Amino acid sequence: METTRTETSAENPAIRRLDEWDAKRLRELADEHGTPLYVQDLERVRENYARMADAFPDADVRYAAKANTSRAVLRTLVEAGAGIECASAGEVERALAAGCPADRVQYTAVNPPDEDLDYAVTAAAEYPELTITVGARDTIDRLEERGFDGRLCLRVNPGVGAGHHEKVQTGADAKFGVPIDRAPETLADAADRSFDVVGIHAHAGSGISGEALDSHRELVSRMGGLARDAPVDLEFVDVGGGFGVPYRPEEEPLDLVGVARATREALGEVEATLAVEPGRYLVADAGVLLTRVNTVKLAGEERVVGIDAGMTHLARPAMYDAHHEMRSLAPDADDREPVGVTVAGPICESGDTFGSHDLSAPERGDLLAIGNAGAYGYEMASQYNSRPRPATVVVDGGRSALDRRRETLSDVTRLEREVPWL
Ligand code: LLP
Repeated sequence: METTRTETSAENPAIRRLDEWDAKRLRELADEHGTPLYVQDLERVRENYARMADAFPDADVRYAAKANTSRAVLRTLVEAGAGIECASAGEVERALAAGCPADRVQYTAVNPPDEDLDYAVTAAAEYPELTITVGARDTIDRLEERGFDGRLCLRVNPGVGAGHHEKVQTGADAKFGVPIDRAPETLADAADRSFDVVGIHAHAGSGISGEALDSHRELVSRMGGLARDAPVDLEFVDVGGGFGVPYRPEEEPLDLVGVARATREALGEVEATLAVEPGRYLVADAGVLLTRVNTVKLAGEERVVGIDAGMTHLARPAMYDAHHEMRSLAPDADDREPVGVTVAGPICESGDTFGSHDLSAPERGDLLAIGNAGAYGYEMASQYNSRPRPATVVVDGGRSALDRRRETLSDVTRLEREVPWL
């Protein structure tokens, strides 16, 4: 594996494992803020960004905000030099509120509701540097109807996908993008209609492991071909995100420098700037979810450990069978025998499980940390079972601050209105 300044350096390792978090500090945060609690380390976010920027030195790195929209995270990445890729009007609003310059904001419209287009066009009138990415010809019509003639990027469906689960393999899914063979005529048409056509975009999928990189290279190579054939001069070729992180201790981190080199090779000679949109890679290992054991019981041969976090706090295991490492933060955890347990949440649904884990013999009241929770954790939280969403705390060197308060029971019923006849 090749090395760069940061890729394998001791100060900035390619992955932060769950064992490396300071247990005492996490216990203090849980005592102060309660559980379940998301903790996000902004220093680690900066480190992840630095490795990405080093690996892709002349590319434009646009953080896919959907992985974690905490304002503190957005601000940290913007200050470090990232642009922001936004999936909705709400994310554009957050990016601008976090101080992202408009020329670094890209709104990727996926079957956009009218309200999102209205918002984006209004925002673009105020900030003409903002880019709108469209994935269907009729989205172009809808933008034209709204009087938009600004910076437009075309999302292409390159016909290849990859990712950690079928639900996140995007590249060949008809839902996304204009088929690549129709892209040149769509670009020409958009340019004729007086849009400022600035780029092409594709995204293979999310959580692409080292083994699945062939598909990603294929996508990049098709995008390079399209960039060379494009009937307009392009400012950028955006090949999406999807850089995977290891969720299990035995998995190796991506060789990011190797990935970057392969990406460049696959792209070939193009005038346009390469852009990448990492989400998970920048935030996943910078976050943990803290939770307390509330029940320990034997069910036949099985030892079930009930915790106060469930699929409403971290949906990934229930939704994608995703594995997240767990570690006991009990002060005497190292003195206890590891035992095989099934960890389950408080939601009244059998899918609400975190699967099998070896944990230092859990006892009621123990604090546990769930690893790699910084990406698609809080973002996918819900109030299902009328459960308030957790608080989130950021740490940065010796400092820590609450950046989203815990919801209360009154937040759960806040949107209710009386139905007059009942
Ligand atoms: N760009 C676009 C257009 C995307 O749709 C996505 C993710 C990304 C970039 C960032 O992908 P990343 O670098 O984070 O892999 N909830 C799922 C992941 C869904 C990803 C959707 N799109 C999960 O928890 O695994």
